[in-house]
Amino acid sequence: MSNSKETAAAGNGIAKVIGRSLKEVDPEVHKAVAGEVWRQRNNLELIASENYVSRAVMEATGSVMTNKYAEGYPGARYYGGCEFMDEVERLCIQRAKAVFGAEHANVQPHSGTQANMAVYQALLSPGEAILSMSLAQGGHLSHGHARSFSGHIYRAFSYGLDPATERIDMKQVERLAIEWQPKIIVCGASAYPRTIDFEAFHNIAEKIGAYLLADIAHIAGLVATGLHPDPIPYCQVVTATTHKTMRGPRGGIILCRKELARQIDSAIFPGIQGGPLMHTIAGKAVALKEAMQPEFRGYQKQILANAAALAKRLSELGHRLVSGGTDNHMMLVDLRSSVDLSGKQAETLLDKVGITLNKNLVPFDPRPPAECSGIRIGTPAVTTRGMKEEQMEKIAEMIDAALRNPGDDNLHRKIRRQVLELCEGFPIYAD
Ligand SMILES: Cc1ncc(COP(=O)(O)O)c(C=O)c1O
Repeated sequence: MSNSKETAAAGNGIAKVIGRSLKEVDPEVHKAVAGEVWRQRNNLELIASENYVSRAVMEATGSVMTNKYAEGYPGARYYGGCEFMDEVERLCIQRAKAVFGAEHANVQPHSGTQANMAVYQALLSPGEAILSMSLAQGGHLSHGHARSFSGHIYRAFSYGLDPATERIDMKQVERLAIEWQPKIIVCGASAYPRTIDFEAFHNIAEKIGAYLLADIAHIAGLVATGLHPDPIPYCQVVTATTHKTMRGPRGGIILCRKELARQIDSAIFPGIQGGPLMHTIAGKAVALKEAMQPEFRGYQKQILANAAALAKRLSELGHRLVSGGTDNHMMLVDLRSSVDLSGKQAETLLDKVGITLNKNLVPFDPRPPAECSGIRIGTPAVTTRGMKEEQMEKIAEMIDAALRNPGDDNLHRKIRRQVLELCEGFPIYAD
């Protein structure tokens, strides 16, 4: 084919591809997406960090905003044609500030990890010290774990739980803070079912002149609605994810005091990121608008009521909950006291009956992280489906029955049918 013919054919081909559906263009990816829709509809989602976004959030996230480069910030971009990018990012910033009562918001972090990375980049030099919760006791990789950039670049020290109460050992936090003089103390967790005392952390940070960073990735929805104590008055910086209890698209945000705004913004761009994901920022803006509605507070209250009901029934059925229960949207079950299964075996077994959750280390776990002795259970996603306390009790009973009878295939089939029935009663993405 001559060059000009080839170019003309390519032009027609591209025009066709642009207008064609995913199913036509890429049946393999379409099949995987359809499979995932089916899975989300027909399984009970109990992963504490997951949720179902609204149609409006999905529309914004799947929009033409994905096509646009908008390096920089509203009013100061490195590309032309950014007027609608500015509009949507300004809306998102205003809403984030309003929802959390923050002086400044950066809505560009691609994820929670990126948000934390930018904070360290803004406030620390390589080799300076971080004090944070250990991953093994509920913290997050990006808080200084040896296998994360945060543990390579900075010197990380970790605090943990009081073995008797399984709550954060604030005396240990204070002792380590005085001993190691970290430049930043991180509070916030991935697997901690109790309220975080931001004021107590603030008092320790103030004593040693450290910055206090609250990572509210998990509890952001509860904080936004006043159902968890507010970190903003006590912390110079707060990071969050938008996809967990916030029920928005996958991403991160940073909230900070005015005086740190420039440092934080330039740590995100040009510090660690290039062009922002503008389609995601559009989705974050929509999720934040949803978070401003009175129903969102009702939703968060129900998340808590559901977690309390699930925890109560599991305890009644003889399962030991780490720290004895939950104050938030999640709980950790220590399987060692009730069944002869590792966390990994429990996760696989429950997957089989359509109950999705994750294995988790319990405090002072003798098993390695790939095995674990516990499971983590969260209620944000099932609450989005409209389930209430009655359904939580049923779910606890199904979990208990499966875990106590790991070899009973007939029973597993029966539980799978019950899960499907429950899911049908609370449809999600029905169209
Ligand atoms: C406390 C905490 N911080 C940060 C993150 C990281 O979020 P992402 O997965 O978006 O990087 C998580 C994710 O689970 C988390 O639980």
